[in-house]
Amino acid sequence: MINLPELFPALYCRCEHNDKGSVRFLHCDYPISISIAEYEFIYNLVRENYLHAGYEVATGTGLSSIAFAEALRDSNQFGYILTVDSYVEEAENSCNSYFGKSSVIRDSKGFNAIRTALNELGLREYVDLNIGRSPEDVGSIVESREAFDYVFIDAQHTTDALIADLTAIAPHILKDGFVLIHDAHCFDMETINGKCGELFGNVPRPAPNCGLDRRGYNLHYLKVKK
Ligand SMILES: C[S@@+](CC[C@H](N)C(=O)[O-])C[C@H]1O[C@@H](n2cnc3c(N)ncnc32)[C@H](O)[C@@H]1O
Repeated sequence: MINLPELFPALYCRCEHNDKGSVRFLHCDYPISISIAEYEFIYNLVRENYLHAGYEVATGTGLSSIAFAEALRDSNQFGYILTVDSYVEEAENSCNSYFGKSSVIRDSKGFNAIRTALNELGLREYVDLNIGRSPEDVGSIVESREAFDYVFIDAQHTTDALIADLTAIAPHILKDGFVLIHDAHCFDMETINGKCGELFGNVPRPAPNCGLDRRGYNLHYLKVKK
């Protein structure tokens, strides 16, 4: 597996000064990536379940996409992850001041930094980078794609926004695929569990080692049953 703490500062990111080992861009404080433990969880989930068609909102620093891409490469598996971001957090340099706005930033430094990093890592062919907003742009972005066996949601952290993100992608997820929800503590999980039961026939549970009290940011996941 990529040695992230050594590699990312050299590419375009700095490591956060906490034990979770998240990364950020050099030019702004937000977005903040998934943790190293969550990277490992995604990497192992993809390899153990032979996943090959990923969808993600949102790209952020690119780290969560890179976890999926690296797993594909290391298992010699054909596939890719389609990732979308409006780059609004970077523009606002905040993880919540953009709530209620629908900006899409088309000339962000972050987008170019991720593309460069993917090229340097030799992972460019596994990641389809998209600029857009969920849920409004999801239909046109995933149109004519095969259904996904992996969905990772880490965009606007409100219960209503998460429900909108899940609902937009639900028709495009395969049975037996996986849905991952980052930062579960930010949501009304009773409401989210009800929605997931309705959409996927299952409810999310905590990913091992990825709780707030451990090495993650409360990553939850479920296997799609319908
Ligand atoms: C916490 S970060 C994602 C971190 C990413 N998973 C990583 O590992 O670096 C959240 C991202 O969601 C994006 N975002 C927020 N609301 C969005 C929306 N409605 N559609 C698309 N992207 C959105 C923000 O611009 C930000 O980059």
